[in-house]
Amino acid sequence: MELDTSWINSALEKRQSNYSSVICFESNDPVRLKQLRQYLASHEDYKRVEVYSFDPWKGLETEVRGRRIPVTESKTKEWDPSQAYPIASVDAALTHMDGKLKRNKTLFLLLNLDILRSGQLPDERQRTLWACLQSWALDSEILASGSCVFLISEDASLVLDEATLNLCVFQKVPPPSDKERLQLIDRLSAECGVKLTYPIETLVIATRGLTLYQLEGILLESYHATGTFDIKRIKQLKTEFIQRSELVEIVEPEWGFERIGGYEAVKKFVTENIINCIKDPARAQKFGVPLPRGVILFGPPGTGKTLFARALAKEANLPFINLKTENLYGMYLGETGRRFSEAIRLSEQHSPAIVFVDEMDKFGQRRGTAADGASEETRRALNQLLEWLGDQNRKSIIVGTTNRIEDLDPALKRAGRFDYKIPLLYPGEKARRRILEIHLGIDRDNQGRLLKGRNTPPLGMNDAALEKVLDELTQMTRGYSGAELELLVIRARRIAFNDRNANYMTSDHLMKAFRDYTIEESDRKGEIEFYYKQAESNTDSQAFLEELRKDV
Ligand SMILES: Nc1ncnc2c1ncn2[C@@H]1O[C@H](COP(=O)(O)OP(=O)(O)O)[C@@H](O)[C@H]1O
Ligand SMILES: [Mg+2]
Repeated sequence: MELDTSWINSALEKRQSNYSSVICFESNDPVRLKQLRQYLASHEDYKRVEVYSFDPWKGLETEVRGRRIPVTESKTKEWDPSQAYPIASVDAALTHMDGKLKRNKTLFLLLNLDILRSGQLPDERQRTLWACLQSWALDSEILASGSCVFLISEDASLVLDEATLNLCVFQKVPPPSDKERLQLIDRLSAECGVKLTYPIETLVIATRGLTLYQLEGILLESYHATGTFDIKRIKQLKTEFIQRSELVEIVEPEWGFERIGGYEAVKKFVTENIINCIKDPARAQKFGVPLPRGVILFGPPGTGKTLFARALAKEANLPFINLKTENLYGMYLGETGRRFSEAIRLSEQHSPAIVFVDEMDKFGQRRGTAADGASEETRRALNQLLEWLGDQNRKSIIVGTTNRIEDLDPALKRAGRFDYKIPLLYPGEKARRRILEIHLGIDRDNQGRLLKGRNTPPLGMNDAALEKVLDELTQMTRGYSGAELELLVIRARRIAFNDRNANYMTSDHLMKAFRDYTIEESDRKGEIEFYYKQAESNTDSQAFLEELRKDV
C-alpha cells in the first residue's frame, strides 16, 4: 500500500525542533502501526537501525528483516541458553533499552501500554515508565545518537502523567483518507477476486469513519457472507460497528421544522444564522460570515429542545450524531477520557454533521472541589469537551441542550465555544394551538382550512366544533410545555378508545382528558418567570428576545 507518511515525517521534524526523542502517536489503528514499521524499514536514515518493540502482551522483541523475535537475557555471566529468559516486564524492558538507546542509534516502539493505566497495575510500574521516558526525552546523548522512542497509544494522557506528557513530542495520526481506503478496497477486491457492480467511489464514501483495520474486517466479513462486497451489507456492518461502541448513535431525523408547533422566531433565527450558512457555504465565505460552530438550546423540560436539534439537522441536510453522554462514564478511572476521545474521533469523521450533546449540565457543571474519582472524571470529560469546542479545525456543529443553564460551567458559555444560546420557553398561545393540532394529526392548507392526516383520530365534530375546542384548550393550557400538550392529546385518544360506545373522538373526550390532567398556571408562575429571566440574561441578541416576547 502506498504510504501517507506525512504524519511520520512531521513527527521526526518535531523531534529535531523540540529536542525531545520521545514521540507520542495517538492512534488506535493497527494499520497505522504497520505503516510506521514499513516506513522505518525502508527509510534511508533508519533501515539499518535496530528496532525494538515492547508490548505488555508480548514482552520485548527485536525486529530482524521484518520478523519479530523475543529478546532474552542471561542470568549468568557466561551465555548459557538454558538460563536465557525472555524480557517480559515493562521494568526489565526499560532497563534493557536504556543502555541501547544511548550507545547506538536505536528505535524503540512502546505499544499497548493502555493496560498499564491507573487502577490496573501497581503504581511503581507506571512511575518507572514515566521516569524513564522523562529522562530519555531530555537526554542529549540519545538526541545526538539519533535514537528515538515511539509511544503509540489511543490516548497518551491515560498512560502518562502530566510532567511526562509535557516532555514528549505529540503527533496526531490522521484518520484514513479516501485515497487510502480506495487503495485498500482495490487491493482486497483483487485478492478476493471480487468484481464490484457499482463505482468503487460509492464504497469509498460509504466507509468513511472506519479505521483501515475496521474497513478490512468489514470487507472480509461481507465477502465471507455474500461472496462479494455487498454495499448494503457493508453499510449495515458499519452502522452496527459504530453503534457497538455505544458512544455515538447516528440518527436519521425524520422531521424538519414543520413538525414543531410555534416558535417561529426561533425557527427564523436558526434558519438565518445557521442553516443558510450550512446550505450555501460559498456565499457565506463571500461575505466573510464564519461557519456556525454550535448552539446551546436551553429552557424548561419538554419544550422541544431535542426535537429542535433533530429538526435542525434535517433542515440543514446533515447527519445527526447523538453523543450518548450517559455512556461516557466508564467503570473505572481513565475510561471516560478514552471513551470521550473515541466519540470525538467518530463524530469528526462524519463531519460536517450536527453533533448532539443532550443535557450538557450533566457534565458541564461548575467544577467541584471534591477530589473523589467521579468528579475527577467529570472534570476530565469537561476539559476534553472544552478543548474540542475550542478547536479551530473542528468541523462538527455542536448542538447542546440544558434545562439548567445557570449550572453550566462558565467556560462552556464563553464566546467562541458556542455561537448562540437560544432559549426555548413555555409555548405561547399560537404555539400551543399548533402543537395541539400537530399531535392531533391536523394540518392546514394555504387558506388555513383544516386538513386531516393519517394520524388524525376519527373525529365526531365538524370543523367549527373542532376549531372551538382547539380555541378552548389553547386558552386552558397556559403554562403547559409542548411535551405536556402531547401527553394531553394522547390521554384524550386513550379515553376515546376506552369509551366503548364511541366511534369517534369528541370534544368531550378532549375535555375529560384536560380535567384529568390539569396543570395550574399559578403553580407554574415561578418557573415561567425563572426561565424568562434566564433567557434575558443569556441571550446575545436583543432583537431576537423582542421577537420571542411577541411569539411566546
Ligand atoms: N413545539 C413543539 N411542537 C410539537 N411537539 C412538541 C413541541 N415541543 C415539544 N413537543 C413534543 O414533546 C416531546 C418532547 O420534547 P423534547 O424535545 O424531548 O423536549 P426537551 O428536549 O426540551 O425536554 C417531543 O418529542 C414532541 O412530541
Ligand atoms: Mg430533551
